[in-house]
This record gives sequence, structure tokens and C-alpha cells, in this order.
Amino acid sequence: MESLDIVRHLLLAVHILGLAAIVGTFFVQMRAKDGFATGVMLAGAITQVVTGLALVGVRQAEDLGVNNAKIAVKLGLAVVVLVAAIVAHAQARRGGKVKPAFHAAGGLAVVNVLVAVLWQ
Ligand code: HEM
Repeated sequence: MESLDIVRHLLLAVHILGLAAIVGTFFVQMRAKDGFATGVMLAGAITQVVTGLALVGVRQAEDLGVNNAKIAVKLGLAVVVLVAAIVAHAQARRGGKVKPAFHAAGGLAVVNVLVAVLWQ
């Protein structure tokens, strides 16, 4: 296996772990009223944007081809997920209403999984 392949597979592993951090937190606390683990969700949202962009770069470096329209949609959704996670975290710290932003981040991350897997 070429060394860039190893880098790409490791990035993909971290990408999947970032997805787990967002969606896992969302599923566990979907019906919660307080105590939202917004820090975990925010860490996952940052991980997705960073590893996603790195994956695109490595794929291009390997001449593997990238579906630009799909990546544009994923990046747009991931940025909204990130903003929602930031809002949820800020609200949690100041004792405000967390649930709407928490649900927006979790729900849109699920949509991004569907885009990633179904759009081939
Ligand atoms: C909440 C945000 C995101 C979620 C839930 C997510 C989910 C996934 C999943 C499930 C896969 C594996 C399935 C597949 O390869 O089709 C994947 C792969 C990939 N994602 Fe994401 N993603 C997110 C954000 C992003 C962003 C922002 C980018 C780029 C700007 C990106 C770029 C990629 C690329 C290039 C791959 C393919 C890696 C490879 O096989 O070489 N993702 N993503």
C-alpha cells in the first residue's frame, strides 16, 4: 500500500470517529432536557470539517478523483452543523436554550451521512 493510502485511510478512520461523536451524542441525548454533551458534539463537528478537507486534498494528491458537487453539499452541511454545535455549546455555557441547536447539529449530521453513502 502506498504511504498516502495509509494517510487517507487513517484520516477516514478519524472522519468516522468524528461522525460517531456527533451522531452518537445526538442519539443518546435526543430526548434529554438538559445536561447536553455539547463539547463532544463540537469536537466532532470540528473534526468533520478538518478531516473532510484533508481527505479531499489527499484524494486529489493521489489522482483518485473527487465528486465536487457532493463535496460542496457535504461541506455546506458540515459548516451548518459546526455553527449549530458552536451555538449549542455557547448556550449550554450561559445556561440558555440548547435543544434547538443540538437537534439541528445532530439531524443535519445524519443527513450528511446519507449524502456521503447514497450519493455515489
Ligand atoms: C457532519 C459532517 C460529515 C459527515 C457525517 C460525513 C460522513 C462521511 C462518511 C459516512 C463517509 C464514508 C462513506 C464514503 O466514503 O462515502 C465519508 C467519506 C468522505 N468524506 Fe465525509 N462527512 C462529513 C463531512 C465532510 C466534509 C466537510 C468533507 C469535505 C469538505 C468530507 C469529505 C469526505 C471524503 C472526501 C470522503 C471519502 C474518503 C475516501 O474514501 O477517500 N466529509 N464522510
